[in-house]
Amino acid sequence: MRPEATELLACVFCGSPVRTDGMMLTCRSRHSFDVARQGYVSMLAGDAHVGTADSAAMVDARAAFFDTGHFSPLSSAIAQAAVHAAEGVAGCVVDAGAGTGHHLAAALAQLPGRTGVALDLSKHAARRAARMDPRIASVVCDTWRRLPVRDGAAAVVLDVFAPRNPVEFDRILAKGGGLVVVTPNPSHLSEIIGPLGLVSVDERKGERLEDALHGLFEPVEEVRVEYPIEPRPDEIIALASMGPSAHHVAEQELAARAANLPERMSVTISARVARYRAR
Ligand SMILES: C[S@@+](CC[C@H](N)C(=O)[O-])C[C@H]1O[C@@H](n2cnc3c(N)ncnc32)[C@H](O)[C@@H]1O
Ligand SMILES: [Zn+2]
Repeated sequence: MRPEATELLACVFCGSPVRTDGMMLTCRSRHSFDVARQGYVSMLAGDAHVGTADSAAMVDARAAFFDTGHFSPLSSAIAQAAVHAAEGVAGCVVDAGAGTGHHLAAALAQLPGRTGVALDLSKHAARRAARMDPRIASVVCDTWRRLPVRDGAAAVVLDVFAPRNPVEFDRILAKGGGLVVVTPNPSHLSEIIGPLGLVSVDERKGERLEDALHGLFEPVEEVRVEYPIEPRPDEIIALASMGPSAHHVAEQELAARAANLPERMSVTISARVARYRAR
């Protein structure tokens, strides 16, 4: 782990700074965290529930889908929002539920000199994020709990299709820092949700998001990113296998259902990229 990254991190148990000690990070209360050979550090409590963590297969499907370029317009919009959020504010870019680190790397490409911190409950995701970009420090942790980041260390917090912890986001953000939240719109993947039996978007999600952020963050800008893609059949399977439905529908079942889809079809990508500032 690079020294400039270690300087941003804090113990998830007591909140004190951590320092490098061989292949471990330790805090002054002697909590210690192993740095894996693959470059990520694990900061999970012993009793952690990892039920919502993406499996190795889901992470592989996500990486394969990003390779197709179908998500590039969305990733560019997220990077753009991160650039605006970081304007005039010193600090790193934290991605909560970063997955492979794809969007974080896209944001860092537009933000020279910044360090990225990828947080994810899945060690498979953390492994990918650690090798995505040398500027990314990758940490396995539960973002529902205390985040492994020092108070005010972040200029930007990204949250893309991942669990949100507004109180902790507020704590780690520097004064004037920005939060970028990306959520799917009801039309996202609508053409394949029914035929593949995928989890559909909760229509009230936008409302609930505002409720949860209320009091801590004020909205600054909202961009609707919507475009059609024409994925190949194998790309449709990757798309379905990387999302929350993969927790419910078996891989073979998904492939069987996908076989009934037309050879070429148009699928809608639709997300809301919303930027907030701490009050
Ligand atoms: C739908 S994926 C989005 C990944 C990434 N933001 C992207 O857009 O490519 C949700 C991610 O949140 C992670 N996750 C789920 N629950 C979590 C938790 N409690 N703490 C941290 N990460 C979590 C999953 O492992 C997964 O990588
Ligand atoms: Zn500690």
